[in-house]
Amino acid sequence: MDTIDAIKTRRSVRKFSDTPVEAEKLQTVLEAVRAAPSWSNMQCWRMVVVKSPETKAKISEYSFVESFFATYGYKSNPAQKGIADAPVVLVLCALPGKSGEMGGQQYYLTDIGIASENLMLAAHALGLGSVFVGVFDEEKLGDLLGIPPEIRIVGIFPLGYPLTEPKAGPPRKPLEEIVYYEKWKE
Ligand SMILES: Cc1cc2nc3c(=O)[nH]c(=O)nc-3n(C[C@H](O)[C@H](O)[C@H](O)COP(=O)(O)O)c2cc1C
Repeated sequence: MDTIDAIKTRRSVRKFSDTPVEAEKLQTVLEAVRAAPSWSNMQCWRMVVVKSPETKAKISEYSFVESFFATYGYKSNPAQKGIADAPVVLVLCALPGKSGEMGGQQYYLTDIGIASENLMLAAHALGLGSVFVGVFDEEKLGDLLGIPPEIRIVGIFPLGYPLTEPKAGPPRKPLEEIVYYEKWKE
């Protein structure tokens, strides 16, 4: 699969088969995060790799933040069950002090965003699936995994073989709506 194909065909995967993820494939996904560009090459990311069923079940539980989802009328995070079922869960964290800040822009979020896409594209290229889960109770999750309070947890990524062939994704806005040439135009 070439890069453009991988970018175009990647989908968020929220349901996983119980087929284990091969150690070499997991390693390749972790290496893809490692290879990402970052502010001043400071590589602020850290990852916790979780395989324990009990811990995955807790992470799944903590990915539902009732006060947040109530506004959408959701009774669970759409990715919640997949977190418990996936063979591996990656918890992507950042050391904000190991990245830049300028004019209110927190570059650790940019660093982690880029690393996240590397993670998901690598998974997809290997026949695996994943999804960025950005809603979770950070305090409970941090306590569960022993993550120090100065470290920010940015995303949870269940990783495994998709249970079904992912369907076409939600539509994207047309380029005419999101691209301006030479100058911003409403
Ligand atoms: C920062 C971020 C946070 C997200 N959080 C969640 C989440 O908590 N639960 C979930 O099911 N999907 C989550 N998603 C996945 C998006 O819903 C998904 O990427 C979007 O609908 C587009 O679908 P696609 O990834 O299949 O192209 C998140 C994506 C991003 C980038």
